[in-house]
Amino acid sequence: KEIVVHTDPHMKGSAAKLGLHKGCWLPVVLFPDDQLLDDIWDFSLRTDDIIVCSFPKSGTTWLQEIVYLIMNDLDVQKAQSANIEARFPYIEYVYPGLKDLSKLKGQRLMKSHLPYHHLPHEVMEGKSKVLYIARNPKDVAVSYYHFAKMFRESSYTGTMENFSDSFLSGQVPYGPWVIHVQEFYEMAKLKRNVMFIMYEDLKEDPEKVIKQIAKFLGKDLTPEQVSGIAKYCTFENMKKNPAANYSWWDEYGLRNKDSTPFLRKGHVGDWKNHLSPRLSKEFDLHLQQWFSANGSLSFREL
Ligand code: A3P
Repeated sequence: KEIVVHTDPHMKGSAAKLGLHKGCWLPVVLFPDDQLLDDIWDFSLRTDDIIVCSFPKSGTTWLQEIVYLIMNDLDVQKAQSANIEARFPYIEYVYPGLKDLSKLKGQRLMKSHLPYHHLPHEVMEGKSKVLYIARNPKDVAVSYYHFAKMFRESSYTGTMENFSDSFLSGQVPYGPWVIHVQEFYEMAKLKRNVMFIMYEDLKEDPEKVIKQIAKFLGKDLTPEQVSGIAKYCTFENMKKNPAANYSWWDEYGLRNKDSTPFLRKGHVGDWKNHLSPRLSKEFDLHLQQWFSANGSLSFREL
C-alpha cells in the first residue's frame, strides 16, 4: 500500500520524512511501510508486562524511572546498573527489536510513543498495564523543538514558529498531539489496564501521584518508599544520574554539539519564554476548535 509522505523542509537526514499511518505521522526511517506496525499489533503480551506510553517530550523518562523503582523495590543499585533505554526498551525502535523483546526473561518494562490504536491488540483485551503521561501541549511543543535541534538525526534548523506550525498541523513524529492524548484519555476511562497521568500533577505533588501509580501497579509502598522515589526522581537528581539523563547519547554522537541536554529544564509553563502571544493564541484556537468538534478533555486546565 502506498504511504502518504511529508518532508519537513527544516529537518535534515532520516527524521525529515514522515509517513501517515491510520491518522498518525510516523518517521519513515522506522516505518517505511506497515510491516512493523502489523508486527507490533500481533506482538504477544504477558499479563505482567508494563508499557509506559506518551506523546514525545511529555515526561516519559521521568515516569519510566518512577515505574522502574516501584517494580524493583527501590533497588537503586540495579537502577544504576544500566541506562534507562536498556532497562526499559522502546517497543518500536530497532534496538532491541521485537524479536529480542519476545525473548526477554522476567517482567518486561517497555516504552512506546505509538498512539493507542497502534499498540499490540492484546492491550485492548486488557492484557498488560499501560501508563500514559500527558503534558500541556505548549510545553510539549517547546520541549520537542529543543529536542529536534539537539538530536543529530533531525538537526532541526527552523524557528519555534516553524516548529509550532508543524506541531499544530500534526506533522511531527507521532502527531497529531490532540488525537494521541484524547484517545488515551478516553481509554483510561473505559479500561482498567490504562492509567492517565498529567506531568503537571506529578510536578505539583509527586508523592501523591507516585502513590496512585504504585496502587495501579499493585504495589503497596511505605511513606518512606514513596518519598524516596520522589527524591530520587526530582529533575535535579535525574539530570545528574548517568543512567537516566541520556548522557550516553553523547558517546554515540547522537546529540549535536552546543545544543540543550535531553533533561533540559523540567519546568511547567516554560512555553511563556518561547511562544509569542500570537503563537500562544494560535495554540488556544487550534485546541478549542479540535475539542469543540471532538468532545472536550475534562482533565486539568491546559
Ligand atoms: P523540557 O525539555 O521541558 O525540560 P520525554 O522523557 O518524554 O522525552 O520528556 C522530556 C521532558 O521531560 C524534558 O522537558 C525533560 O527535561 C523533562 N523531564 C525529564 N525528567 C524530569 C523530571 N525528573 N522532572 C521534571 N521533568 C523532567
